[in-house]
Amino acid sequence: MKSYCISIVGTGYVGLCTAVAFATKGYQAITSTHDKQKSASINKGIPPFYELNLQETLQKVVRDGHLECTLKRQEAILNTDITFIAVATPSKPDGSIDLQHIENAAKEVGQALNKKDTYHLVVVKSTVVPGTTENVVKPILEKYSCAHCGVDFGLCMNPEFLREGSALHDALNPDRIIIGEHDQKSGDGLEVFYRDFYAEKMPPLIRTNLPTAELIKYASNAFLATKISFINTVANICEKIPGADVTMVAKGIGLDKRIGPLFLNAGLGYGGSCFPKDVKALIAHSKTLGYAPDLLEAVENVNETQLYKAVQLCRNLLIDLKGKNIAILGLAFKPNIDDIREARSILIINQLLKEGANIIAYDPVAILKAKSIFKNKIKYASSSIECLKGADCCILVTEWEEFKKLKPEDFTKNMRQTILIDGRRVYNPEEFSKKLKFAAIGLGPGNLKSTANKP
Ligand SMILES: NC(=O)c1ccc[n+]([C@@H]2O[C@H](COP(=O)([O-])OP(=O)(O)OC[C@H]3O[C@@H](n4cnc5c(N)ncnc54)[C@H](O)[C@@H]3O)[C@@H](O)[C@H]2O)c1
Repeated sequence: MKSYCISIVGTGYVGLCTAVAFATKGYQAITSTHDKQKSASINKGIPPFYELNLQETLQKVVRDGHLECTLKRQEAILNTDITFIAVATPSKPDGSIDLQHIENAAKEVGQALNKKDTYHLVVVKSTVVPGTTENVVKPILEKYSCAHCGVDFGLCMNPEFLREGSALHDALNPDRIIIGEHDQKSGDGLEVFYRDFYAEKMPPLIRTNLPTAELIKYASNAFLATKISFINTVANICEKIPGADVTMVAKGIGLDKRIGPLFLNAGLGYGGSCFPKDVKALIAHSKTLGYAPDLLEAVENVNETQLYKAVQLCRNLLIDLKGKNIAILGLAFKPNIDDIREARSILIINQLLKEGANIIAYDPVAILKAKSIFKNKIKYASSSIECLKGADCCILVTEWEEFKKLKPEDFTKNMRQTILIDGRRVYNPEEFSKKLKFAAIGLGPGNLKSTANKP
C-alpha cells in the first residue's frame, strides 16, 4: 500500500468529506481555504456544516495527524502528489454555471506547479459543464505553471456523486468511479490511486474522456430530477381521481426492475445545492450548443410550481391566510443536514408571508442558517411541539425522522385549529384524517373519510 499525500482545494461538502474519507485510510490529506476562521475550526475538528458522523471522524483524523486545513495553499500543492479541485460552481442568473472559483483554483494550482519539478496529478471534482476541464482548466494550468499537460502534470475529471446527509458514507462507499482522462498516464494515475484507496471495496470503474465524464454527472442529476418531477406529475393527476393515492402508484411502478423504487417520493419538489443548479446549467449549456432540451425544461417547470401546492392546500383549508399562524416543520432541503440552499421551505415561507400569515418554524439543525435569511420576519421554535402550539395549520416540509414519529394527538393537543398538510407523504392518511383536517400531496378525493375533513 502506498501512502498518498493529497491536497484538496475547497472545504465544502465535497472537499471536506472527500478529504476526511482519504484521511481515514491513513493518507495525508491537506485541505486549503482562504478563510482563517474556517481553517482554525477544521483544525480543531469542527466542520463548518452539519453532516452525519463527520465531526467525530474529522476529530479522529485531525488528532491522528492525517488531516490538516491550511491557508498556505501553494504549500499544500507542493507537498502532495495529487490535487483535487472541489470548489463551488454556482448558477449565474441565466442558469449557466459561474466558473470564477474554478478559474481561481486552477490559477493557484498552476502557480504552485510552476515551483514543482516532479509530476503532479490535478483532478477536477467540481461539477462543470462539458468542455470546461479541457478548455478552461487546462489552459489556465498550463499558463501559470509554464508546463505541459499530459507531460509535466496530469489532468482528470472525476465527478462526485455523494449525497448530502450521507456524504461521508457515500465518499467511502460510492456506487461507481468515473474517470475522465486527458491522457492515459493521467487516468492510470487516478485509477491506481482509487484501487489502493478502495482495495477490496473497489466499486465499478469507468474510464472515459473529459467531456463524457463531465456529462455523466449532469445526466445523473438530470435523470434523478426527472424522476422526482415525473412522480409529482403523477401525484397531481392522482389528486383529480377519486380514491387514487400516489404512494401506492409509486410502490406499484417501483417494483418494475426497469424503473426501481428510489426517487419516486411525491412531495414538494427538489431543492438543494445540486439538482436545481445542475438542471439549469445543463439546459443553458445545451442551448449554447443549439439544442433546446424540452424535457428538462418541463422537469424544471413542474418543480417550480409543485412547492406552491402546499400554499394552495393551506388556502383551501383556511380560506384566508391573513393573520393565521402557520407552523412549518422542516427547513433544510432534506433531512439530516443543515443546508438550506434552494430549500423549498424558503419559497413556501416567503409566499405565506406575502399572504399575511404568521410563521413559526422548527428544524432539528437548520434554524441557525434559516435565521440568516428570515431574521425576525418569522418565529423559531425549539421543538416540534413548541412549533405546533397555537397554530392554525401545520405544513410538513422536510421529512426528518422525528417528525415521522408525531402522533395525531401531538397536533390535536397543541394546535388552535387542527389542520395538517403533509408535503412529503410521511403520515398515514387514514389514521391522521380520523382526528384532524388532513391534506397531502397526491391524494385523490375520497381517500379521507373522516368527519374531521368535512368542511
Ligand atoms: N454538495 C453536494 O452534495 C455535491 C455533490 C456532488 C457534487 N457537488 C459539486 O461539487 C462542487 C462543490 O460543491 P460543495 O457542495 O462542496 O460546495 P460548497 O459551496 O459547500 O463548498 C465550496 C467550497 O469551496 C471554497 N472555495 C472557493 N474557491 C476556493 C479557492 N480558490 N480555494 C479554496 N477554496 C475555495 C468555498 O469557500 C467553499 O468552502 C460543486 O461543483 C458541486 O456542484 C456537490
